[in-house]
Amino acid sequence: MKTVDDLGKLKGKRVLVRSDLNVPLDGATITDDGRVRASVPTIQRLVDEGARVIVLAHLGRPKGEPDPQYSLAPVASRLSELLGTTVRFASDTVGVDAQRTVAELGNGEVALLENVRFNAGETSKDDAERGAFADQLAALADLFVSDGFGVVHRKQASVYDVAERLPAAVGGLVQAEVEVLKRLTESPERPYAVVLGGSKVSDKLGVIDHLLTKADTLVIGGGMVFTFLAAQGHGVGTSLLEQDQIGVAEEYLSRARELGVSIVLPTDVVVAPEFKADAPATTVAVDQIPDDQMGLDIGPESAEAFAEVIRGSKTVFWNGPMGVFEMAAFAAGTRTVAQALTEVDGLSVVGGGDSAAAVRQLGFTDDQFGHISTGGGASLEYLEGKTLPGLAILDESGSEESA
Ligand code: 3PG
Repeated sequence: MKTVDDLGKLKGKRVLVRSDLNVPLDGATITDDGRVRASVPTIQRLVDEGARVIVLAHLGRPKGEPDPQYSLAPVASRLSELLGTTVRFASDTVGVDAQRTVAELGNGEVALLENVRFNAGETSKDDAERGAFADQLAALADLFVSDGFGVVHRKQASVYDVAERLPAAVGGLVQAEVEVLKRLTESPERPYAVVLGGSKVSDKLGVIDHLLTKADTLVIGGGMVFTFLAAQGHGVGTSLLEQDQIGVAEEYLSRARELGVSIVLPTDVVVAPEFKADAPATTVAVDQIPDDQMGLDIGPESAEAFAEVIRGSKTVFWNGPMGVFEMAAFAAGTRTVAQALTEVDGLSVVGGGDSAAAVRQLGFTDDQFGHISTGGGASLEYLEGKTLPGLAILDESGSEESA
């Protein structure tokens, strides 16, 4: 895979950079700018080398046409602040404004083009339609740098097809992410604990399946835990339950036993009668969940047990909150787990948009962890052992050119 170092002299070159700037917004306010901050070093490097930098990104899932609520304009302002230079914002992606903005870029200047997903070709399943849009993107530049790790699992025009059309390289963020994920899959220092939370077992099937053969311990919390508790025969009241996944959870529990992998489940949970920040919360043992209450966090005894496993591990990967961390009454489990990750004497990796947002919202800083991945779905798919199109295409284009 080529890196930016292999692209030659960059001064005066128009470089398209695909970043992942898909940040949570409250109106026009960015509530977690982690992905913007993570994108800065590669852009800064290109600026320092005198390139004309054209940043491509998506925000949300608009339906292939302009939709103001998904405009990248607020992100352009934040990027300007972080780079300490004006980022020119084009109000379209390949239209008149984008072309004029790119034409006016001087060496070492940066433009951000409007949401790539305002164009139907970006996410089209039709290769020709996607390719036609990629042609328009490629026409804007001389070189392509793929730096949006969170989106490399998508076969989309600005991630995949454009890399076939321009000399392409991987950016520093993608390189760093892949290095860490390789350590997690190829040579994890042991003991290796994988901590999974979040609402659905069905979202995590692939990763559980793949990591059962690699991890020493699988720690499970979050909404998905109730499907596992149901698989153990417990009543789960009105908690989130994926009825159709109970059999799958049973299978994982017995496979783990066969493989000698320990699965750690909560022994107590925090329950409330309804999904509300001020609902009266109580802690009960997992075999005592009242029929009319729902579990919204792991209990303190479980959180401590989880923390002990985490602190005693040399490698920890964590994806998914332990409870409804957005509500103070149900944030303690996630906070205890996050705190334990900061105390790991080894490699601690926080993966996924929700977990990254959770640690920041709970007041932790990025440098307290070994690595905070910018990719939710992308890091999970990598850990599932899947081929990620945005990485595969860079491998292919690199090998073709060097052949
Ligand atoms: C993410 O938020 O995980 C990435 O930005 C990818 O977004 P997507 O799931 O809408 O493709």
